[in-house]
Amino acid sequence: MCYAIPAKLIAIKDNRTAVVDYFGEHRNILFDAATDNVQIGDYVYAQGGILVRKILQDEAEEILKSWREVFFELKKTDAALASIDQSSLPTNVLGVLQKINLRKSLKKEEMLALFDGLTTPNELKVLYEVANNVRQREHGNASCVHGIIEFSNYCRNDCHYCGIRCSHDVQRYRMTIDEILAVAHTAIDKYGFKAIVLQSGEDLWYDEQRLTTVVKETKKMGVLVFVSIGEREPEVYANLYKAGARAALMRFETSNAEIFAKLRPHTTLDKRVDLIKKIKEIGYVLATGFIVGLPGATNIDVVNDILLTRYLAPDMYSFGPFLPARGTPLENNLSPSKDTVLKTIAISRFVDSNANILVTTALETLAAAAKREALLAGANSMMINITPNAYKKMYAIYDNRACDTQDMDNTVKDTVDLLFSLGRAPTDIGMTVN
Ligand code: 5AD
Repeated sequence: MCYAIPAKLIAIKDNRTAVVDYFGEHRNILFDAATDNVQIGDYVYAQGGILVRKILQDEAEEILKSWREVFFELKKTDAALASIDQSSLPTNVLGVLQKINLRKSLKKEEMLALFDGLTTPNELKVLYEVANNVRQREHGNASCVHGIIEFSNYCRNDCHYCGIRCSHDVQRYRMTIDEILAVAHTAIDKYGFKAIVLQSGEDLWYDEQRLTTVVKETKKMGVLVFVSIGEREPEVYANLYKAGARAALMRFETSNAEIFAKLRPHTTLDKRVDLIKKIKEIGYVLATGFIVGLPGATNIDVVNDILLTRYLAPDMYSFGPFLPARGTPLENNLSPSKDTVLKTIAISRFVDSNANILVTTALETLAAAAKREALLAGANSMMINITPNAYKKMYAIYDNRACDTQDMDNTVKDTVDLLFSLGRAPTDIGMTVN
């Protein structure tokens, strides 16, 4: 099974933009005319709205044959799940939801009204259904699955919420370059991943030179290389881009400068936001977001978090609930409720209807069934953990991570089963052409 359906390149708009076809659905993708040797009629893989590589026609046609029937079946399931039961719309939210259907943008007060005003199971059900409907309208049944390799849990930061903060006495590990590349190889060759996320604490042993090697070698395997390595000099990000990295994940954590200052000693929100902007300017596909429900944060903060994310114009929203980690200053604080996180997903979908919204492991850890619920409340992308089990357990940013007990085989199987049960197909996450 492959995680991406091959697409046919049907138009080249300019040096950067092309249009691809998936069984009659058209999507824009970014490519580089100078280095990607592609022509109209070629078959390609795309990930994150970016061309990853060309594939041979025979190979593509073979894969497409096996997908064709499944694809149309999946679309039917997705459409059925995305319909809204109009009869149960409560009157107090009708106005706001109508605005969403008319594609009007929501004001901050309206976002807050959805957060504060919707509480009963029936109201929440409608909210999530509308968000799922918008997701379907914007993305069809396209979904994207990226594999994360957590290659080091060394971190120079001391964030109060994080279990691998430098002052926490935990067992540290650092995968060798060869180990990282071996995992990437298995993920790509055996399981068909088309995007690999290289994630670590802020570990300066992995300097520019070592990171460049990992990025270059992973890129050679013909995938989208995502980096999630924390705050580095902008030049490091620029050079990793040159080495072939095309996507970067960096959350701003919270838009509340006071909470930020309290929980992230020696760093500032402004500096982090500046770096996120620079990463975007370099040309990276950007994933950013925040932690929902940090101690002291209110619903207004969550609304501001969503708005700051939108302002940063990312390609992908990444946020999950705060979960306490033993041995940290916040070990006795509570997590937000599952519905707070699902509401955050739904409202993000409304304010940025075309966004890619990730389901995160933190949400799954908070409530086992929440992954499915999130995909039905506006989320459309997944990052799954493919770190070898022995290391994964040590990447304990919070306790009892949902992914910790599964190996790559099970994780992949469960994810595919879940996506298929919801009618989702891995046709990438590029924008639909209007
Ligand atoms: N709960 C939830 N998310 C956390 N992160 C770190 N610690 C926690 C925690 N205790 C998140 C941060 C970081 C990402 C890699 O993990 O948002 O950016």
